[in-house]
Amino acid sequence: MNKRLIFLIFLLYISSLDLKAQSVYDDAKNHVCLKCHSSQIISFHNEVIGKEQKKLMNPYYIIDTTGIKNGVHQNFDCTDCHSFEYSTYPHLANLKLEPMASCLDCHGGDPSYATYQFERIDEEFKKSVHFKVSGEDFTCGKCHSQHTYRPTARNSDNVMEIVEYSNSLCLSCHNDMNKYEMVAGHENPKLVQVHEWLPNQELHFKHVRCIECHTEVADSLMVSHNILSKDLAVRKCAECHNSDSRLKASLYKYTNLQNRSDGSVKSILSNESYVIGTQQFPLLKTLSIIIFFLTIAIMKKS
Ligand code: HEC
Ligand code: HEC
Ligand code: HEC
Ligand code: HEC
Ligand code: HEC
Ligand code: HEC
Ligand code: HEC
Repeated sequence: MNKRLIFLIFLLYISSLDLKAQSVYDDAKNHVCLKCHSSQIISFHNEVIGKEQKKLMNPYYIIDTTGIKNGVHQNFDCTDCHSFEYSTYPHLANLKLEPMASCLDCHGGDPSYATYQFERIDEEFKKSVHFKVSGEDFTCGKCHSQHTYRPTARNSDNVMEIVEYSNSLCLSCHNDMNKYEMVAGHENPKLVQVHEWLPNQELHFKHVRCIECHTEVADSLMVSHNILSKDLAVRKCAECHNSDSRLKASLYKYTNLQNRSDGSVKSILSNESYVIGTQQFPLLKTLSIIIFFLTIAIMKKS
């Protein structure tokens, strides 16, 4: 990757820092790029016919402005990463081919980001099914938008929020026919059917991350990045519904979760006989244990 380009980006970035006490995105309607890129309809002056004109925006090119403001790169302006030449419309055709900096280009080998272990993540990712099938074409950006990325799991103390954010990264492709097909070259399998064996699918997908079942848990990494092939995915209920749940080593290992004031995660971690999801009311508890074992019994028969 072009080191000069990256250096330039950094210079631009640093020189613009003090001008940005307020976020550059505060006034989206007047932002030179967001006028168009935060809207479903764009207006521009058509010089060929000399008139104002309107067009529909490609939905994939509409940027989530709230996402940017909450993201780690909120202090960047668009043209810190994209060419200044984008300020004219129609955009110049060759800009489409402009190479973009990857996470490692900026964060690799930088000690100030050591806690994130970018290099180890890269190593793990290179063992994953995605890299094996698509190689370098499957960039970090396929899951992480540089526009909106924020490290949710280590910052939030809300399990549902963490799960939703994490799963949205996978579903943005596995639930989007066009995006999936562009990468795979074939139609995507229907996730609901693929996971039919899992009871209460909706409930599970709200409480556990896809990566809980689809990665090898790596103790030394906060987020395991080695997505395994489907035959190695977790199917055994007891891997989680057990006092020694694998969730302890993955989802519940975050201190931000363990320090939750309501103590629910603490009790999951400490209670030996804990069966996940069954600590509400005594009657419900008995009922759901019965349902739980019934489900297992039915599954064993089928
Ligand atoms: C007048 C509306 C308008 C403005 C202003 C505008 N864009 Fe765009 N942009 C578009 C449209 C429409 C597309 C879809 C592709 C096309 O028509 O060229 C696009 C495409 C893009 C793409 C994707 C190119 C590709 O095909 O891969 C990038 C990146 C982009 N714009 C960045 C910017 C940046 C950065 C700015 C501000 C400096 C900006 N745009 C300002 C309308 C606009
Ligand atoms: C931190 C760097 C960074 C900043 C800041 C940034 N972009 Fe991007 N942008 C990227 C990268 C990298 C891609 C390519 C994503 C990919 O294809 O993997 C991209 C892609 C795009 C695309 C193509 C559609 C897409 O999402 O892939 C558009 C449109 C775009 N950017 C517009 C903008 C606008 C408008 C802004 C400012 C509001 C902006 N970008 C700010 C890095 C950035
Ligand atoms: C163009 C260079 C560049 C690229 C590309 C880039 N980053 Fe960043 N990133 C930065 C800079 C600079 C900061 C510090 C921002 C600040 O402090 O306002 C940052 C901040 C972060 C942080 C917060 C660090 C902290 O705790 O303060 C994370 C996490 C992060 N980036 C992840 C990523 C990921 C994941 C990618 C790829 C999807 C990526 N970055 C791509 C330059 C980049
Ligand atoms: C298959 C999807 C996928 C790919 C590809 C991917 N990641 Fe991730 N990554 C995730 C998920 C899911 C999370 C958890 C999100 C969260 O809650 O923070 C995550 C989290 C992270 C974090 C935060 C870890 C922490 O300690 O908080 C970083 C940094 C990161 N990824 C960097 C990368 C880099 C660099 C690449 C490319 C080498 C990459 N990721 C590729 C899915 C992916
Ligand atoms: C409780 C564990 C579990 C969870 C949670 C889970 N999966 Fe799966 N997944 C599996 C198992 C087991 C298989 C293998 C099914 C088979 O081969 O019959 C599988 C299969 C798959 C496949 C392969 C489809 C195919 O047949 O080619 C994909 C893709 C997939 N899962 C994605 C996801 C995504 C995305 C999520 C999150 C929304 C997720 N999974 C959540 C256990 C899980
Ligand atoms: C940009 C699209 C994209 C994203 C994002 C993505 N995947 Fe995939 N994934 C694919 C494609 C394409 C394949 C199929 C590769 C092939 O043809 O076998 C695949 C395959 C899989 C498989 C099945 C592997 C097998 O053995 O057939 C699993 C499991 C999986 N992905 C899980 C995940 C999880 C978990 C996430 C989020 C952390 C995720 N994916 C994010 C595109 C994506
Ligand atoms: C990756 C971990 C994981 C796996 C594997 C898993 N579960 Fe769960 N299960 C959970 C979590 C987390 C919840 C939701 C807990 C809550 O409500 O707080 C849950 C909830 C449930 C519930 C609902 C309990 C209630 O109170 O409503 C049932 C029933 C259940 N699981 C059965 C199963 C069965 C049967 C299997 C195997 C086919 C299985 N689970 C596999 C983690 C898992």
